[in-house]
Amino acid sequence: MRILVAYGSKRGGTAGLAEMIGRELTTLGHHALVRPARQVRGLDDLDAVIIAGSLYAGSWHRDARRLVRRHADELRRLPVWLVASGPLDDSALAGEKPPVRQVARAAARIGARGQVTFGGRLAPDAAGFPAAAMAKKRSGDWRDPVHVKRWTIALVEDLTAVEGQPPLPMTPTPTPTPTPTPGATTRTGSDVDG
Ligand SMILES: Cc1cc2nc3c(=O)[nH]c(=O)nc-3n(C[C@H](O)[C@H](O)[C@H](O)COP(=O)(O)O)c2cc1C
Repeated sequence: MRILVAYGSKRGGTAGLAEMIGRELTTLGHHALVRPARQVRGLDDLDAVIIAGSLYAGSWHRDARRLVRRHADELRRLPVWLVASGPLDDSALAGEKPPVRQVARAAARIGARGQVTFGGRLAPDAAGFPAAAMAKKRSGDWRDPVHVKRWTIALVEDLTAVEGQPPLPMTPTPTPTPTPTPGATTRTGSDVDG
């Protein structure tokens, strides 16, 4: 299957995470296209889409949000998963983190099949304010390859199940109800001739 992994990343951490997901998809036998979200112009010939974005001050990366807005109609017709990358601690590993508001809204808008938050990365030599100050206390890499691998395997299992399902009928097929024949009598065991 052809799966797009589009990402919005400010300092390269989420770009690296998208590459990790892409490599797992390839290992599982799929064709992964890893692209910056702002370069995505169309979603033709895709079987699924993963949109990843970094978190800054509680906001999901602008390029990820814009991709959802630009292609909402097409995304609604595809299986889509949303990814956020941020926490500079083990909290993303501890359990399913609830999505930030923008991810929850995007997921509802396009009917995403799932969302996940992975740990983030902050380089010790990060420049700019307030990243440099933060990096003095909280630099490190919390993008866990095992977490990414498990999630990607579960996604592919879900995707394969979606593909295997017959398409939903456009209108529900009415169940035929037997029409009693006028004058007919119901025969029971006791009145069946010998
Ligand atoms: C100024 C700043 C603000 C941040 N705010 C958040 C936040 O609100 N939530 C979160 O989970 N992570 C936050 N992070 C951590 C980043 O999301 C993490 O470093 C991420 O991996 C960055 O992705 P990128 O390298 O693709 O830009 C913040 C980092 C910086 C430097």
